[in-house]
Amino acid sequence: MHFTLSDLIADITQNGVESGAELVELSIEEIYSQKKDEIHFMVRDNGKGMDEETLRRATDPFTTDGVKHPRRKVGLGLPFLIQTAEQSGGGWNIESAPGKGATVTAWFDLRNIDTPPFEDAPGLFRTALMFDGPREMLLRRVRKGANNLPDLDYEVRKTEILDALGSLDDAESLILLRDYLQSLEEE
Ligand SMILES: Nc1ncnc2c1ncn2[C@@H]1O[C@H](COP(=O)(O)OP(=O)(O)O)[C@@H](O)[C@H]1O
Ligand SMILES: [Mg+2]
Repeated sequence: MHFTLSDLIADITQNGVESGAELVELSIEEIYSQKKDEIHFMVRDNGKGMDEETLRRATDPFTTDGVKHPRRKVGLGLPFLIQTAEQSGGGWNIESAPGKGATVTAWFDLRNIDTPPFEDAPGLFRTALMFDGPREMLLRRVRKGANNLPDLDYEVRKTEILDALGSLDDAESLILLRDYLQSLEEE
């Protein structure tokens, strides 16, 4: 099965949306240097959070049952993110407590051949914005030091997008959204 880092992070973002959060934050930082090339993701929500038992089950590869996503070949979710990060020289961290939301971070070594391709930030941001639920989403994007590519550092808020586009549920606004998100990468 072919998948991208964007697929993995979209799934983690969906968990944030399903947690009942008012605010979901998604940040993508790509940092290139002589020492290492790394991409770092963070998804933070202020939803219901997880107790220790829920967190243990959620990160255990054997509890992915495929029931909720019956057409998927592999249950994505946290176990898949963890496995992918660990198999490619990356890492992960989760902080959560009941009523305190959750913060999931994962990082990947962009020089490791076992790291799946990223895909792109505009595509992942568009997917995130299309999830129904949180009143606000804060999307942050950083890229530093990439060969022949400009440095980037920008933020997008769901409420601003909705103000500008009116809604996100017709084809025309989704096209405008795609073009707008794409334009932010071409500063
Ligand atoms: N951000 C989160 N906030 C609260 N609970 C979460 C969060 N992320 C994961 N969970 C818990 O972990 C479970 C497993 O997550 P996941 O592996 O993505 O599978 P799924 O979302 O299909 O249930 C969820 O059903 C939920 O109980
Ligand atoms: Mg999930």
